[in-house]
Formats: sequence, C-alpha cells, structure tokens
Amino acid sequence: MKVLITGGLGFIGSNLLELLISKKNIKQIIIIDNQSKSSLQYIKSICNYKYFSKSKDYIINRSKVNVINADILNYQFALKVTKKIDYIVHLAAESGIDSSINFPKKSFNINVNGTMNYLEAARINNVKGFIFSSSGAVFGKSNPPMREFINRAPISPYGSSKLSIESFCETYSNIFNLNTTILRFSNVYGKYSRHKSSVVTTFIKNILHKKSLKINGDGKHTRDYIYASDLCRAIYQSILKCKGCNIFHVSTGKETSINKLINKIFSIFSKKKYKMPSLVYKSNRPGDMRFNSLSTTYIKKNLKWENKTSLDKGLYKTISWYLK
Ligand SMILES: NC(=O)c1ccc[n+]([C@@H]2O[C@H](COP(=O)([O-])OP(=O)(O)OC[C@H]3O[C@@H](n4cnc5c(N)ncnc54)[C@H](O)[C@@H]3O)[C@@H](O)[C@H]2O)c1
Repeated sequence: MKVLITGGLGFIGSNLLELLISKKNIKQIIIIDNQSKSSLQYIKSICNYKYFSKSKDYIINRSKVNVINADILNYQFALKVTKKIDYIVHLAAESGIDSSINFPKKSFNINVNGTMNYLEAARINNVKGFIFSSSGAVFGKSNPPMREFINRAPISPYGSSKLSIESFCETYSNIFNLNTTILRFSNVYGKYSRHKSSVVTTFIKNILHKKSLKINGDGKHTRDYIYASDLCRAIYQSILKCKGCNIFHVSTGKETSINKLINKIFSIFSKKKYKMPSLVYKSNRPGDMRFNSLSTTYIKKNLKWENKTSLDKGLYKTISWYLK
C-alpha cells in the first residue's frame, strides 16, 4: 500500500516513518512538509529518500520514500499528490496551545483549511482511509480519564481547530463513506523532538543547557505522557483497520504531575552526574487544562493496542537520545 504523511518530517512523523519503512506491506511513503517547524535533519538519519524541493517538480516514481517540500494550504497540489494513495496520515498542523492563543487565525488557517484540503482530496481521489491526529485538547475542563465519547468543549483555539476537523471527519464518513479515524493523542514525548517546546523536551533541553525549569502553575497539574514509538504503533494499527468512522485515544490513561515528571527526569540525569537546575513557578497559562489523561479502555478493546513503554523507561530512552 501507499501511505501519504503530511507533516512527516516533524516529531511524530519521523517516529512514524521509522516504523513504517520496516513494514513489508507498505510499498511507498510520500511525505508532504513545508519544513516550517522541521527540516531534513531527522530523516537523514532514518532512511534514503527522494527529495523534491518544489511541489511542481514532483512526479510519481518508484523510490520507497518521497519527500515533497509543499504546504498543505496548496489545494491543487493536494488533489494531485493524493491520486493513487491508499491512506493519508494527517499530522501537519500549527500545534501548541500558546501559538494558537497568540495567532488564532494562523492556527485556524493551517489546522482547519489545510486539513480540509487533504480531507477533500481524499474524498475526490477515493483514498481508502484518512487518519487524523487530534488531541485531548478538544475536551477542555473535563474530568480525567476522559473517554472517547464524552462532551467536547475545548478551551483554546488549538482545541477548537482540532474539534472542527473531528466534526468534518465524522461528516465525511457519514455522508461520503470516506473511512476516517480520529486519533486523539495525549502528551507525546520521545526522540526526534529537538525542535519542540513541549514540557518533556523543554525540561531536557534546559537541564542540558544548565537553565532553570519554568513551571506554569503549582506543578500539581497532570498530563498523560505517551512514548512516541508506542503512539506510532497505534497509527499503524489504525491504518490497517481504517473502516467507517472511528475515534481512539492514544494515551496511557495515567496522570503524572509536572512535579513528579521533574523528579523522574532528574533522577535519570543525576545518575549521569548532571546538576538539578532551579525551579521557577510561574502563573497558570491561559487555555491550559489542570488535569488531563485519556482513557485507553476503548482502544484496547477495539484496536487491540496498548502502550508498552513505562514513563521511566521512555524518559530514559528519550534522554539517552538527546545525550547522543
Ligand atoms: N506532540 C504532541 O504531544 C501532540 C499531542 C496531540 C496532538 N498532536 C498532533 O500531532 C500532529 C503532529 O505533531 P508533532 O508533535 O509531530 O508536531 P511537529 O511540529 O513536530 O510536526 C508537524 C509538521 O508539520 C509541518 N507543517 C506545519 N505546517 C505545515 C503546512 N502548512 N504545510 C505543510 N507542512 C506543515 C511542520 O514543518 C512539521 O514538520 C499535529 O497535528 C499535532 O497537533 C501532537
């Protein structure tokens, strides 16, 4: 089968590529990325690929991995490149709560308009399945662990943009019979994340650069941390089983407070003789949920997936990658 990954040069995309190139049933992988948040740096360490620096130069070819420097806002190109594609994994986004609060229109444009281009292209070109990377941010202030079908009430433009597309995925499945799978990720961490500013990444980078760790709030707020390789197994499973309209939480179902996360990260670094930097507690960030974890009951039963990597082990692997 042929799989197209938008945003495939980014953090999750690079982890996914590493998994998919090992699968015999995947004959070709096409990556669409405008490199606004990433570069060719990670992929160079993963596999060989054919690179098109201009989307207009792209021609179908036999190379197992094609990378096209293109923007998802280019609808004509979306129509062209999705011909003869079996599955689309849509990862490209303006991700992050902060940036969506600072630039809500940009967040809307890329996350909603850009995604619609590929959803519509998938419909027109009879793509077999569309896998959409959504987020626990669609829930806002609900009580964890959030189950798949509770009320969605986002409290950030980022969460709202994801919710809009969730709704379009559902409609496209219902009206046009396009198979869509909505995967709501919790907080993902792992290798190929150097360009990110998520909490695990920022803490690791700050410790390495001997900078203080800034905590928004009292550090008692919780998140559900999922290791990227585990998450990518779920994406692969959902490609294999993309039928009808599905929603799954890709998470661990476990809450960890920021203070506990810091202790875990530091215990790994201290064994490597790093010093604990100072902790600076700041005010809460607007749009931040206080408690967050996503239930895994449904995905375990219906996708036969569960996470395998404990937080301690995942953090150890991630830190080892950074140190390398
Ligand atoms: N990382 C997480 O914890 C997390 C949690 C929930 C959901 N998600 C979602 O998963 C997806 C992937 O996240 P990630 O962490 O890998 O982010 P990332 O920023 O590392 O990857 C996104 C990629 O999309 C590309 N991109 C951005 N705008 C583009 C555009 N207009 N056209 C083409 N390419 C564009 C970027 O260059 C980047 O390579 C996103 O949709 C994100 O919202 C991530």
